[in-house]
Amino acid sequence: MSRDLIEAALAARKHAHAPYSKFYVGSAMRDETGRIHAGCNVENAAYPQGWCAECSAIAALVVSGAKRITEVAVVGNGETLCTPCGGCRQKIREFASDDVAVHCYGESGKLIRSFTLGELLPASFGPENLK
Ligand code: THU
Repeated sequence: MSRDLIEAALAARKHAHAPYSKFYVGSAMRDETGRIHAGCNVENAAYPQGWCAECSAIAALVVSGAKRITEVAVVGNGETLCTPCGGCRQKIREFASDDVAVHCYGESGKLIRSFTLGELLPASFGPENLK
C-alpha cells in the first residue's frame, strides 16, 4: 500500500461539503491502470439528497473511463474507524472483487485498519449474479 491513495483522500476531504453533520469524509480509489480518483461527501439542505465520499470517488473513476476498483482508502473525522457505509460497500462491489483492500485512516493520515471488501460485504450479490 502506498501513501498516494491516502494523500488523495485527505486532499478530497478538505473539500467535503458537510455543514449539517460536520463529518468530513474523503475517499480515493485506484483503478485497473493505477490511476487514482478521489471524492468527498456532499450533503444537502434536504438531508436525504446528500451522498458519500465513496460515491463521489466511484463517479470520478467511472467518468474517467476506468472499469475496475483495485484499492480503496477512506478517511473520516478524528482517529476512529470510518468504514464505508453499507450502501457504499455495495457500490464498490459493482467494480471490485472480494480481495480488494479497503484502508481506513484517521484524519492525521494514520492507518487505523485495513479490510478486504469480502470482509466488509460477505456473500455479496454482484454483477456475476446477473450473467
Ligand atoms: N459518510 C461518507 O461520506 N462515507 C462513509 O463511509 C460514512 C459516512 C458521510 C455521509 C454524511 O455526509 C456524513 O458522512 C455523516 O454520515
